[in-house]
Amino acid sequence: MSATLTLAAPLAAPPPGPDDLRIEGLVKRFGATEVLRGVRLRVPRGQLCALIGANGAGKSTLLRCLLRLVEPDAGAIEVLGEDARRLRGRALRRLRARVGFVFQRHNLVPRLSALSNVTHGAIARAGALAWHQALAPRALRAEAMRCLEEVGLAPLALRRAEALSGGQSQRVAIARALMQRPEMILADEPVASLDPAAGREVMGLLAGLARQRGITVLFSTHHMEHATAFADRIVALRGGAVAFDCPAAAASPAALERVFA
Ligand SMILES: Nc1ncnc2c1ncn2[C@@H]1O[C@H](COP(=O)(O)OP(=O)(O)OP(=O)(O)O)[C@@H](O)[C@H]1O
Ligand SMILES: [Mg+2]
Repeated sequence: MSATLTLAAPLAAPPPGPDDLRIEGLVKRFGATEVLRGVRLRVPRGQLCALIGANGAGKSTLLRCLLRLVEPDAGAIEVLGEDARRLRGRALRRLRARVGFVFQRHNLVPRLSALSNVTHGAIARAGALAWHQALAPRALRAEAMRCLEEVGLAPLALRRAEALSGGQSQRVAIARALMQRPEMILADEPVASLDPAAGREVMGLLAGLARQRGITVLFSTHHMEHATAFADRIVALRGGAVAFDCPAAAASPAALERVFA
């Protein structure tokens, strides 16, 4: 019997996964000023997408419109398969619970320990009532501790948030978002207040943990090197519209510079 090695036919490209985010014709006005001017964006499941643009380009407004922290004026928004513009009350809260937010300012409760701040991520996941009635505190604390370990902060678990450095606080904020077991993370300049070394480290941590879990991430940044190093794709906003959209590996320095010109 001849031991011929038959090469398998080249695999077809995997079918594109579902889009976790679909935005079409998104418009937001503040007074007479149109801040988002018909934004279209689709982000497939598991993609890390960087949103760049000059001050005032509309990055934060876009991120806030997605779960209606800011109310859009026109357009369609689908988040994790849900029509985010139509949802109200409990249904909107349920959708928000599936998405972790990380902001420039970490918004930790200063007088609570790092560990307690992280366990609060489970409130978003389970709702305040379930938190009090059903969840076993011991299991929650163990899970929170694992999240803190993942961001390298287990040794500081019992330290009050107010006594943590900016970088440490942002790690706790990431652990809290992970505790929520999010399907998507929206991060608005998550490392803007950190020094360059800490910023790079924390950004790498966020990207790495999201990748491990297959979490879709949309993050805004002014750091081009973070966009090119940690994202799969770079979307640039200019004057409230998408100026370019390309794989991170293909983003040319000239194109990136034009966004800020
Ligand atoms: N609540 C608000 N009321 C009025 N105008 C607003 C409000 N929020 C944002 N804007 C305006 O909308 C525009 C876009 O702001 P946005 O914060 O989305 O920009 P950005 O790209 O996040 O900027 P930065 O890089 O400075 O964070 C700006 O001109 C800003 O002044
Ligand atoms: Mg902003």
